Amino acid sequence: MANFDSSQRDGFSSKFGVIAAAAGSAVGLGNIWRFPYVAGENGGGAFLLMYLAFILLIGIPVMMSEFSIGRRSQKNTFGAFKVLAPKSRWSIVGLMGIIAAFAILAFYSTVAGWTVEYLVNAIGDQFSGKSKEELGADFSSFASHDYKPLIWQMFFMILTAVIVLAGVKKGIEKYTKILMPILLVLIIAVCIRSITLPNASAGLKYLFYPVWSDITFNSVLMALGQAAFSLSIGMGCLITYGSYIKKDNNLFKTSFQVASADTLIAILSGVMIFPAVFSFGFQPDKGPDLVFIVLPNIFQTMPGGYIFSIIFFFLLTVAALTSTISVLEVVVAAFIEELKMSRKKATIVAAASISILGVFATLSFGQMGDFTIFGKTVFDILNYVSANILLTFGALLIVIFTGWRLGKSHFYDEVTNQGSIKQPLFKIIVFIIRYIAPVAIGTVAIASFFVKDLL
Ligand code: PFF
Repeated sequence: MANFDSSQRDGFSSKFGVIAAAAGSAVGLGNIWRFPYVAGENGGGAFLLMYLAFILLIGIPVMMSEFSIGRRSQKNTFGAFKVLAPKSRWSIVGLMGIIAAFAILAFYSTVAGWTVEYLVNAIGDQFSGKSKEELGADFSSFASHDYKPLIWQMFFMILTAVIVLAGVKKGIEKYTKILMPILLVLIIAVCIRSITLPNASAGLKYLFYPVWSDITFNSVLMALGQAAFSLSIGMGCLITYGSYIKKDNNLFKTSFQVASADTLIAILSGVMIFPAVFSFGFQPDKGPDLVFIVLPNIFQTMPGGYIFSIIFFFLLTVAALTSTISVLEVVVAAFIEELKMSRKKATIVAAASISILGVFATLSFGQMGDFTIFGKTVFDILNYVSANILLTFGALLIVIFTGWRLGKSHFYDEVTNQGSIKQPLFKIIVFIIRYIAPVAIGTVAIASFFVKDLL
C-alpha cells in the first residue's frame, strides 16, 4: 500500500505542538472535575492503580492505533477508513466518530459555557458572603435560566470555531502551545494553596489511600471508561490529529507523553480539590455540585480565595476549550475533505449545526427539563450515547481494525517510522491491540448497556 502523502495538507509544525494539541484534547472537564470524584468514590488509591494500569496497557496502545491510522492515511476520521480499507464497511467507524463528536460537543459546550459564567462571577466576587444553600440556589437558577446559559454556550462555540477556523498550525497548535503550559502552572499553584490548608491530609487520604473493598466490577468498568474518555480515544479525534503529525515523529513516545500529561493533570486535579474540600469540612459531592457549588463556597472562606477562584474557573475554561477545539476539528476535517468545503464554510456549518443540538442540551436544565426519553433528558442522552456507547464501541472497532485489518507491516511502518527507529515493545503492543484491548474494551462496551451511570 502506498504511503499516502499529501504535502500541501495543513499539519503540526513541531513535536511540542503535537503534544500540546493532543494533551489539550485529552485534558478537559473529564480530568478536572470528573476524575477526582470518580477516584474518590471508587476506592481512592486502589482505583488510581487500576486506572494507571489501564492507561498504560490499553490507553497508550489504542492512542498509537489512532495516530497510526491518521498518519498512514493522511485523512480525516471518515476518509481514513475509506483509504485504508477501500470498499468495505469500515468507514462506518469514522462516521460513528463524527456522530460522537456532534453529541459530545453539544453537551460538553453546555458545561463549558457554565465555566465561563463562573469565571465572570469569580472575577465579580459574586460568591462572597453566600452560604452553600444560596450558592446552590444561584447555580440552579443560572442553569435553568431562559437564555443566560445559552449565551455562554454560543460564546464558547464561537471561541472554539475562531481557533479551528485559523487552521491546524495557525489556530490549534498556536493556541494549545500557549494554553497548556499556562494550565499546568496554574493547577500547580492551586495545588500548593490546597495542600497548605489545615487538615489537607484528609483530602489526600481520600484520593490516595487504597480502599480495596470499594473495588467492584463496576469500579473496574468505571476506571476503563474514564481512561478512554479522558484520553479522547474512540471517536477519531486522535486519528484526525494523527493525520497532522509529521513522518519523523515517534508515535510511541508521543502517545506516552500525552497519556502521562493527561494522567498527571487528573491526579493534580484531585490534589487541588480534595484537600480544600476536606479542610473546610465538606463532603466530596458529585460533578456539577462539587465544582459549581462546593468550591465557590470554599473559595470565599479560604485565604486568597478570590484570586484562586478566578484561577480555578479560568483553568477549567481553558481545559474545556482545548478539548472542544479537538472535537470540532474532527467534524471540520471531515467536512473539508469529504464534502469539499473550504475550512471557513466547514467550520461555520459544523459549529452552527452542533450549536443547534447544543441548545437542547442546555435547555435540559430549564425549559426542557421535563422532556425526557427513557427517563433521560437530552443532555443525559447525549452524554450517555456518546460516552457509553459510541466511544467504547469506537475504541473497540479501532483496535480491531488496527490489529486485524490494517496489517502488521503498515502498523510497524508507522510505529518505527519505516523501520528507522527501534521499538522493542512492538510485539507486546501488537499482542495488546489484537487480544487484550478488544476483550477489555468489549467487556466495558457490553457492560455499559447493563450498568447504570457508568460514565
Ligand atoms: N478528553 C476530554 C476530557 O477528559 O474532558 C473529553 C473528550 C475530548 C472526549 C475529545 C473525547 C474526545 F474526542
